[in-house]
Amino acid sequence: MLEIEDLHVEVGGRRILKGVSLSVLAGYTNVLFGPNGSGKSTLLMTIMGFSGYKVTHGRILFNGEDITQMPVTERAKRGIGIMMQRPPNLVGVSLENLVKVTSKDKALASGAAQGLDMARFLERDVNVGFSGGEIKRSELLQLEAQNPCLYLLDEPESGVDLVSIERVGSKVRELLHGTSCAGRRGRAGKAALVITHTGQILDYIEADRGYVMCNGTVMCSGNPRELLQEISKMGYEECIKCKLKLTTVN
Ligand SMILES: Nc1ncnc2c1ncn2[C@@H]1O[C@H](COP(=O)(O)OP(=O)(O)O)[C@@H](O)[C@H]1O
Ligand SMILES: [Mg+2]
Repeated sequence: MLEIEDLHVEVGGRRILKGVSLSVLAGYTNVLFGPNGSGKSTLLMTIMGFSGYKVTHGRILFNGEDITQMPVTERAKRGIGIMMQRPPNLVGVSLENLVKVTSKDKALASGAAQGLDMARFLERDVNVGFSGGEIKRSELLQLEAQNPCLYLLDEPESGVDLVSIERVGSKVRELLHGTSCAGRRGRAGKAALVITHTGQILDYIEADRGYVMCNGTVMCSGNPRELLQEISKMGYEECIKCKLKLTTVN
């Protein structure tokens, strides 16, 4: 579904991604690990197509189509959705209006909001004054409304308390298990690329493949649970040298 080929990206005049290659097949959930500042969020924001992320080399293919220069709206229409690590406050835009605009199912807003315990937030401006957990649930509500085929989830569990993690994790699992999605004709199946530091989300989703990113490139890949164990034990230093029993990329 998603293929990233030797992607180089500049942000604010700085080279951040220096040749990232990875792929996510339909029906698969892949996980991205890596120390702070390694470029994980930059990769997800670039795949979604936000301005300010300048691709200087390489390609992004979605269902075989080159979307590297495509506007964010077109990518969303084709079925790519993102849960940002730090989404902006949308002053003057209520959560209800955003969800209704995004969803083809106009009745979805109230039902989905109730499922995420977000009903009382619908009339509030998006993210304005929301707590960490409320922001994540608001992001999930928007994703549920959009029903994308490819989910880009940037640290879905960060800043979320233990009770909310259960709610966030269960909702992510539910969304990924759905078979039909917007923007996709023919073969069903969703896919996800998930960034996690703590690995807590791995208790809720079936992750197929893990990648370790460091200094703007993907250093290793392997079984996500094994990778997480090795990182917890050895830290990223050893991991990025690929000294561990991991598969070296390329
Ligand atoms: N707008 C920007 N201008 C300059 N540098 C940026 C900008 N956004 C991100 N960066 C830098 O890019 C690097 C990678 O950031 P990020 O992708 O957020 O890393 P991660 O998600 O792995 O922690 C960091 O050094 C960060 O400071
Ligand atoms: Mg990040």
